[in-house]
Amino acid sequence: MHVAVLAFPFGSHALSLVDLMLKLARVAQETRFSFLNTEKSNSSIFLAARTNLPDNIKAYSVADGVPLNHVFSGDPVERVELFIKEAPGNFKTALDMAVAETGRKISCLITDAFLSFAGSIAENLSIPWIPVWTPVPHSLSAHIYTDMIRQRNANSLIHDCSNSVELEDQTLDVPGLSEFRIADLPAEVLPPRNAKETLFSCMLGQIRHTMPKVDTLVMNFYQELYPEPLLNDLKSKFSNLLNVGFISLSLPPPSLPPSTEDVTGCLSWLDGQKAKSVAFISFGTVVNIPQSEIEELAEALEVSGIPFLWALRDSMSYCLPSGFLDRASTHGKVVPWAPQIQVLAHSSISVFMTHCGANSVYESMAHGVPMICRPFFADHKFNARLIADEWRVGVRIDGGIFTRTGVLKSLDLILEREQGRGIRSRVQDLKELVLKASAPGGRASRDFKTLVEKITSV
Ligand SMILES: *[C@@H]1O[C@H](CO)[C@@H](O)[C@H](O)[C@H]1NC(C)=O
Ligand SMILES: *[C@@H]1O[C@H](CO)[C@@H](O)[C@H](O)[C@H]1NC(C)=O
Repeated sequence: MHVAVLAFPFGSHALSLVDLMLKLARVAQETRFSFLNTEKSNSSIFLAARTNLPDNIKAYSVADGVPLNHVFSGDPVERVELFIKEAPGNFKTALDMAVAETGRKISCLITDAFLSFAGSIAENLSIPWIPVWTPVPHSLSAHIYTDMIRQRNANSLIHDCSNSVELEDQTLDVPGLSEFRIADLPAEVLPPRNAKETLFSCMLGQIRHTMPKVDTLVMNFYQELYPEPLLNDLKSKFSNLLNVGFISLSLPPPSLPPSTEDVTGCLSWLDGQKAKSVAFISFGTVVNIPQSEIEELAEALEVSGIPFLWALRDSMSYCLPSGFLDRASTHGKVVPWAPQIQVLAHSSISVFMTHCGANSVYESMAHGVPMICRPFFADHKFNARLIADEWRVGVRIDGGIFTRTGVLKSLDLILEREQGRGIRSRVQDLKELVLKASAPGGRASRDFKTLVEKITSV
């Protein structure tokens, strides 16, 4: 058997794919795995924990479509567009390389579900296609029901163009998404009026056409975490809906590394803090927070006196108010990068301020840490809705952006109020649920086993 794994090389998508492949390769040792990804993404994901690759894995480069001597505009979408322009030819070239080098035909294609053209590659090779949906399943439903959502939205625009605020607040008429609003949708599902179609939006727009042909779909999620109508609806559409759990987390969490390996000093600093006292702040590697919001957040942290650990990229630290680092050093620490999983696993952490990228949300939940949400783009708003209104394990920041009063209010609510007590206990409950599902014999383990059987028996 020779499984080709095709990554979408942006955000944390490729991480989920590589981690799924690693888990599979350790079990299916007779199966060969070829990992197809751009060099840029490949070099950033094969770090630390991912260096000891099993022998049955090899990475192949996929052209990123960036012309020689290209000058970037600064728009992060540009890389995505250049890459998609090159697809699927770039992937097919890499597939040919993997076949030539191993002398083994590809027997199965596992790909990021965003690569909606992969179904056609698999069809042409007469092999199964197993897409992996890495965001929350709720957003897959929004993609599947895009036509209905657009239709309904268009109708309500005709009948009531008086108040667009109300319109944005309309709930979605999609099974299991009754908590969600029009305003939460990613731009690909409901593009703003006059928005230009991009290659990226076209590729994602195809998801609703390709998904109905899919038989086995892998979810970066737990069956136990779905609202029932959503689960039933997706199960009616996919004969094998495999909820293999949070792919990039190993659960139960491994014990913390010894402090000698604590290169950033985060963990030893946390060791010196009281249990459940520290606010952890991080917005991933892609989001650029406006300077004004960094200032407001910094002021709130300074006034509150609450211990905090803030992972802020060096390129953004100039945004901090002058003298902040000195003044706040009594109770806080700012670092350019933090080992997020280990930080969230640390007993001193009380709350996580996050942009609500799916992996960050999963890491926080799996460690029982409540969230303060400041969503930015893509599926962030969607995830924030899930956290604040469906799971009720966190709150959205007032007014959608960081203000001094909004930050203080959210911190007070989570850490001090009765409502916060409920939030903290619910996130503990979710953590237990996830741990149980991940244990041997748990549902996620069983679905993973089914996936192994699928790829080794084709
Ligand atoms: C991917 O990254 C790993 C680690 O940096 C490296 O050993 C490997 O050669 C890379 N493969 C490709 C195809 O870029
Ligand atoms: C699959 O084959 C058809 C017919 O040869 C071709 O038009 C199509 O582009 C192929 N699809 C992919 C993704 O290569």
